[in-house]
Amino acid sequence: MLLKLSVCSLLLTLVTGRISQFSVCISLTEPCTAGETPWNDVAHVDAAVAEAPALSSLASSDFTTLWHPELPRYGVRIKKSHFCDCSVNAYTGYIDVEARHLFFYFFESRRDPSADDVVFWTNGGPGGASSLGLFTELGPCILENSTATKYNPYSWNEYANVFFIEQPVGVGFSYADHGESVDTTEEAAKDIAAFVAIFFNHFTEYKGRALHLAGESYGGRYLPLFAAEIYDQNTKIEALGMDPVNLSSIMIGNGCTDQSTMIPSYYDMECTGVTVDPVLDIGTCVSIKRALPRCKKWLESECFTRLDGINCRAALSFCEEVVMSPFMEAGGSAASPRRPLISIAPHDACMVCSSLEAYLNLPAVRQVLGIDPSFGNYSSVSMAVNSAFEAKLDHIFPTQLYLTALLERGVRVLLYVGANDWVCNWVGNERMSLAMQWTGQGEFVQQPLAEWTVGGRVAGLTRSAKGLTFATVYGAGHMVPADKPAESLELVSRWLSRQGL
Ligand SMILES: *[C@@H]1O[C@H](CO)[C@@H](O)[C@H](O)[C@H]1NC(C)=O
Ligand SMILES: *[C@@H]1O[C@H](CO)[C@@H](O)[C@H](O)[C@H]1NC(C)=O
Ligand SMILES: *[C@@H]1O[C@H](CO)[C@@H](O)[C@H](O)[C@H]1NC(C)=O
Repeated sequence: MLLKLSVCSLLLTLVTGRISQFSVCISLTEPCTAGETPWNDVAHVDAAVAEAPALSSLASSDFTTLWHPELPRYGVRIKKSHFCDCSVNAYTGYIDVEARHLFFYFFESRRDPSADDVVFWTNGGPGGASSLGLFTELGPCILENSTATKYNPYSWNEYANVFFIEQPVGVGFSYADHGESVDTTEEAAKDIAAFVAIFFNHFTEYKGRALHLAGESYGGRYLPLFAAEIYDQNTKIEALGMDPVNLSSIMIGNGCTDQSTMIPSYYDMECTGVTVDPVLDIGTCVSIKRALPRCKKWLESECFTRLDGINCRAALSFCEEVVMSPFMEAGGSAASPRRPLISIAPHDACMVCSSLEAYLNLPAVRQVLGIDPSFGNYSSVSMAVNSAFEAKLDHIFPTQLYLTALLERGVRVLLYVGANDWVCNWVGNERMSLAMQWTGQGEFVQQPLAEWTVGGRVAGLTRSAKGLTFATVYGAGHMVPADKPAESLELVSRWLSRQGL
């Protein structure tokens, strides 16, 4: 239930996604750079090369296939274009992990691709395609309608080389040869770690470059495990004589990481004035308040201390019934513009999703991306992947344990949260950040929540110590880069340059 909620919430925000304020950069009929033929012939002529060429020397008409002698089961198919951003080189393709094929978009930094950090972005769900983030939130171009995109001046590739990865297999353009699927984050993390190792070892100009893993929503579950897998994998990589991946930080936007703090926080969002005036009526709030201790105790004993699948589901369903359903039934923000809390919406209500799917099904777009013509219709959400993760109760794991382990090893952690989000709200994230047990906890909890500003205006509240930063973003919902693009870019820029907010 919660997982479906996350997907739906993600979809709802898309409906209100800000996609109107940018100037047009490219359209299908206007290749952006003289001399480039980004929309032309894309025959899949694979050229196997052991010595990786520089990225920029890759062909724009064909896929180049790369492999590494130390990683014989892995390969890269990659193709250059100016897709989405006239001003930089763009690369699309697949990282092939045996029979699994993860599709990616990679955009060079608009500032200095040869020196800027690398950011990896994934959307959540589970089952949400990262194309959603690219085309509706932080990518170099934002979807204008079902056939055109617009230049995004607030794209995160202003300051970083940015990846958008469709993961796990079964999501977006990513696929598996024999229909294999992934149903846990632990399993997904192995493919991501392989992906990252292959990328940095193929493209020597990026070797040693700082890597930041970013994402939102279910990314709060994904990213800590992906980072841990990449970190632990470094030992094996070094044993093979290869350079380790320079994992620098993770950046979680509106993450659902720790259900033990998140679920009780729905009460705060619904029944107190932490962000907006109480949404639910007094009688309902009193019922929720009375039921909360039982919900928390039951979850603790059946889901968190140990996991008993059957009892945990019963506990979850009790909590959903008493804490979450009243809000969902009340309709959240959909019911009233005075209550800017996100809510749920059915998939078919997602206008942007259908435009995005139409755009990514255009033969001309697919040609530029290098999608095999036999690949079926594009879908921005895989409900099959979502259900598979749900069946494993993947979201129940106390993922904050990975965050503390990463912090102990010097991997910085940014938790930024749109203050108006309900589903992975700031109250739950703040409680988790304060409760996390690690050697920096004492210093972190002593910091006051202070305002951070952009252009002289208060953008939100923040607390930071020893590599952990918590920040709210005022006026933003579940998808901060879509709601507050300028503030979101500023946040990322300060984080990457290791300034305080
Ligand atoms: C999409 O936007 C482009 C650029 O503004 C415009 O030329 C085109 O007619 C629009 N297409 C649709 C289907 O609205
Ligand atoms: C990792 O990246 C940081 C930040 O750019 C840099 O200072 C450091 O030297 C890099 N480490 C390695 C081993 O390349
Ligand atoms: C793909 O979408 C088109 C247009 O909506 C539809 O006619 C077709 O049946 C779909 N194909 C599959 C395999 O779902």
